[in-house]
Amino acid sequence: MKRLTAPKGWSQLLFAPSPEPWAALRAAAAAGPAATTATLIDAGLRGRGGGGFLTGAKWQSTAAQPSDQRYAVANGYESDPAVFTNRLLMEENPQGVVEGLAIAALTVGAREAFIAVRADYTEAITRLERVIATAQAERILGTSLLGTGRELIITVRPLQGSSMIGEETVLLKALAGKRGQPEQTPPYPSEIGYLGKPTAVNNVATLAAVPWILNNGAVAYSQIGDSNQPGTALVQISGSVAHPGVLEVPTGTPLNEIVAAAGGSAAGATIKALLVGGPTGGFIPANLFGGTPYSGAGLKSVGAHIGSGAMLALDQSVAIPELATMLTRWCADEACGKTIPCRIGTRRLAEIGQRFVDGLASPADADRLQKLAADVSDGALCAHEALAPSPLLTGVRYFASEFGPAVAAPSATPTSGRS
Ligand SMILES: Cc1cc2nc3c(=O)[nH]c(=O)nc-3n(C[C@H](O)[C@H](O)[C@H](O)COP(=O)(O)O)c2cc1C
Ligand code: SF4
Repeated sequence: MKRLTAPKGWSQLLFAPSPEPWAALRAAAAAGPAATTATLIDAGLRGRGGGGFLTGAKWQSTAAQPSDQRYAVANGYESDPAVFTNRLLMEENPQGVVEGLAIAALTVGAREAFIAVRADYTEAITRLERVIATAQAERILGTSLLGTGRELIITVRPLQGSSMIGEETVLLKALAGKRGQPEQTPPYPSEIGYLGKPTAVNNVATLAAVPWILNNGAVAYSQIGDSNQPGTALVQISGSVAHPGVLEVPTGTPLNEIVAAAGGSAAGATIKALLVGGPTGGFIPANLFGGTPYSGAGLKSVGAHIGSGAMLALDQSVAIPELATMLTRWCADEACGKTIPCRIGTRRLAEIGQRFVDGLASPADADRLQKLAADVSDGALCAHEALAPSPLLTGVRYFASEFGPAVAAPSATPTSGRS
């Protein structure tokens, strides 16, 4: 699977290397932090790591903390299994990621910044390091940022471990060489982050949009895609489509257009559902594709979320109860163990799902599933637990007949994005 060519008319800015590298960094240095954050807020740039937080506001908050040291971190860990939108981005536009991070560091007042990457992303690591080394040699980065004498050291930090490392508080601990479990927020990393200092953590796709915004203006960006969450997003569409791969999609694009851009159903297959949002995502039936925009709010309204940008097309050969149960088991296995409703609740949910798969479920199991799913989500310390029930809930909601007579098609609880 690789990057797919987007249909004509779809704005492409994340994958497009800037025609004038470092022009945006120079502009940010000239404009100053207040003007840079104001531009990002006017543009409406929201984080692409799942939570959808306003990037300009996050940087303002980080910059406002009284501290002798602040940090900026690019989250390129990409924790969901078999998803590689961030890897492709770092390979194809490492300049955009490094420049976005340099602008973040400059804006929040950091002298040191890190790009956290999965250790097996060797090609991405090589390309990112090449950009940094060249920029240091040209005195754009390093001991004299843009020749001003101010220091900005950017380092690529390969990490390897569980999927929880993608969560920002765990990521910061992993960077500090510590064992990680998520921390309750607030306080956010913008207040207490890497080594206890204020830290701006952003997904690599969020950062790669920043040079484009500073080069082309807030208005141009705000006019792309969904007005509540403008810009483009990276979507990995795989499974029963003719052309699996990664697409750069204007936010708000209806799901049927994304499927069409991937060539529609694979030969001999008919897509019956999309699993949107990775292993904690939701199943969306084909009859809703046309009316569901690819946006945080649009997906939430049908029980799914953007998450890692993964979209899996499923045809008639896939049994939804089986897949939903397997995903729930994955969530249980990945739970870090800190929160009891997550550690134990997700495992019990998987057991209920298995009874449906085995044809042994009773109507009481259908009830239990709904109640336990609500308890698990309510008890969430991090979004892993808040979202873990989504596959089973949306499976039951939209594919009740596959779960057998024990299910009377109850409705799924809407989910939130990971944060
Ligand atoms: C279980 C879990 C896994 C996550 N994995 C990732 C990840 O792989 N990449 C990422 O950028 N954010 C991930 N996040 C979100 C981060 O905690 C954080 O919100 C994000 O990196 C902030 O960047 P943004 O403001 O650009 O979205 C995850 C969150 C949770 C709860
Ligand atoms: S909700 Fe789950 S994954 Fe998140 S901190 Fe608690 S046990 Fe760990």
